[in-house]
Amino acid sequence: MRAHEAGALHGDIGHRGPAWLRPPADVNALVPQLWPRQVERGAGGALTVAGLDVRELAAGYGTPAYVLDEDDLRSRAREFRDAFPDVDVYYAGKAFLCRAVVRMIAEEGLHLDVCSGGELATALSAGMPAERIGFHGNNKSVAELTRALDAGVGRIILDSFAEIDRLTALARERGVRPGVLIRVTVGVEAHTHEFIATAHEDQKFGFSLAGGAAAAAAFRVIDEGVLDLRGLHSHIGSQIFDTSGFEVSARRVLALQAQIRDARGVELPELDLGGGFGIAYTTQDDPSTPAELAKRLRKIVDSECAAENLAVPHLSIEPGRAIVGPAVFTLYTVGTVKDVDRLRTYVSVDGGMSDNIRTALYDASYSATLADRASTAEPLLARVVGKHCESGDIVVKDEFLPADVRPGDLVAVPGTGAYCRSMASNYNHVPRPPVVAVRDGRARLIVRRETEEDLLALDVG
Ligand SMILES: Cc1ncc(COP(=O)(O)O)c(C=O)c1O
Repeated sequence: MRAHEAGALHGDIGHRGPAWLRPPADVNALVPQLWPRQVERGAGGALTVAGLDVRELAAGYGTPAYVLDEDDLRSRAREFRDAFPDVDVYYAGKAFLCRAVVRMIAEEGLHLDVCSGGELATALSAGMPAERIGFHGNNKSVAELTRALDAGVGRIILDSFAEIDRLTALARERGVRPGVLIRVTVGVEAHTHEFIATAHEDQKFGFSLAGGAAAAAAFRVIDEGVLDLRGLHSHIGSQIFDTSGFEVSARRVLALQAQIRDARGVELPELDLGGGFGIAYTTQDDPSTPAELAKRLRKIVDSECAAENLAVPHLSIEPGRAIVGPAVFTLYTVGTVKDVDRLRTYVSVDGGMSDNIRTALYDASYSATLADRASTAEPLLARVVGKHCESGDIVVKDEFLPADVRPGDLVAVPGTGAYCRSMASNYNHVPRPPVVAVRDGRARLIVRRETEEDLLALDVG
């Protein structure tokens, strides 16, 4: 058997945590930008959301559970809509979608992006007007495209030549002229504070700008005249805090727009800049407000359009995470607390990588707090882990929790609204948690907990 290569040092590094993580002056304090806006500590020190005590939520709905502060989500949706008044804001449903959220998004005046037949079915079944839906995906099936056309989806974002041909044939058969955008890969990859601008982008989405595929796609759609080409689309990444990547991408995509105008005499009326706006997962993240983003994006587009002598197109954006991410926290119950050779304390909770795969998948950082009480104990650096048969089953890599954290305690992990429930799995046949929406002191189940019966219902062998 091989010893761990890093030996004791490995544990020692873990014990101190990352350089930025400092023991808090008050281990019970909530860092406002990490939490839904209506979360606070109530009189007994337990968290409350919109006035409701999390102990009541745990008793009523069990744990783990995703808890949604409905007014938080609605207010973030409104802030985008108000900051971008003449821009269509498409909520990216892949971040998290269920019928109640579709209704919230629709009521707050947003549009909706879907990227599969399942998301489209959810949106339509919740009454989202089809003309406010955009349909993405690099491999939409004929059945999905047919359904989108029959429903009257507002726009389809084209991703391949095969898709142009399929959609053209379907539109001809039906005698319809669907609105389409061309997804352009612009050679910009942006994540957090860094972006990389390259000539080429080696990825499955969209049409390459550098290789000429994007221009060829636009020419094919214009020349065939069956689909209504409204504009170009680019999405450059996720968890972006700095708009310089958008500047490069807007410059490149608008240069293509000018090329299309010069070659075909058509000035495309719309431009979609995608999503990817960052949120706070730890104290290290300092996201911009929608108003700041709007100002910077508008300036970028105005100056790039002026440089190309183009009229400013009608803009759209596609935020997902920035709307739903901060509105949700996951509530867990602690099952074991294990001090491993005084190197690290592992706090095991009753969920894990099946309800939040992002830590394992992207090495994402999260925060956590003791949720059912305040504590006077010293801060203890802990790792919050799940119950799955996988040593990489980590929820929060490093966090200070009170040293008296114990089995039966509730722990809450904020920032889990985006890409947690939507990427949840049944690994180890663990049923997926419910989503509970809280508003004005009242809770309602919007996605119920999966049961063992649900799991067995699919197992027909
Ligand atoms: C095309 C497109 N638009 C929007 C988004 C939403 O990104 P975010 O949730 O980071 O805002 C994504 C995410 O993958 C995407 O691929």
